[in-house]
Amino acid sequence: MAPLRYQRLYVNIDHVATVRQARRGASPDPVEAALRCEAAGADGITAHLREDRRHVQDADIHRLATALRTALNFECAATEEMLALAERIRPAAVTLVPERREEVTTEGGLELVRAGGALREALARLAAAGIKGSLFIDPDPAAVARAAALGAPAVELHTGPYAHHPEHPATLAALAAAAREGEALGVAVHAGHGLSVDNVAPVAAIPAIEELNIGHAIVGRAIFVGLEAAVREVRAQMDRARTATGLVP
Ligand code: PXP
Repeated sequence: MAPLRYQRLYVNIDHVATVRQARRGASPDPVEAALRCEAAGADGITAHLREDRRHVQDADIHRLATALRTALNFECAATEEMLALAERIRPAAVTLVPERREEVTTEGGLELVRAGGALREALARLAAAGIKGSLFIDPDPAAVARAAALGAPAVELHTGPYAHHPEHPATLAALAAAAREGEALGVAVHAGHGLSVDNVAPVAAIPAIEELNIGHAIVGRAIFVGLEAAVREVRAQMDRARTATGLVP
């Protein structure tokens, strides 16, 4: 079987900022972490500026936008404040996510029906600024079709249900079906949330998934093996999965 197309690894550095914010100081610096991730093979860096600024701060986004050698995927809610910031800094990509103040982390995909009008408008603004817009959605072919109808050039499939229940084959099958729908509709398919070196292989092996976003597990693992090694471990696991057969549902 021919090797699958290269799959990009974007490292989410939010939780480097989480550790920094525990003391409200300057270290560890998420920009320095991002540069080390790039040196270890990351294809891009993801950072989520939350409304409550619990980890990444505005200054981090500005610094990332100029310091990165690869590409910045700016993750944010589709609010006026965030869209205006994206238009100013012009990252390569913006991933729009739902956000609730009380949540521990992003808990589900975007609600595409009720928020459809606002998302369509946000995607049009991003496109006009030359930014690739992506919608974080549940792993469901119908959600992919709705995202495509809203004008999304890309979607990020929520891998949380799979990461929480990898023992249920339906969670992986849903990702594979949604990814196939994206490919059929000409929408770039990314995926992320809850992925780690231990569970990434079956997701990495899904042919239509072009990009994975992985944060917490890499930053957590970095405590024990160092950041560069943690990135390389995941990269190696993705590459192994992508050349192995029999992993794709
Ligand atoms: N993708 C999106 C849209 C997210 O909100 C997050 C978490 O910030 C991730 C990917 C990364 O998830 P994790 O930190 O669990 O790897």
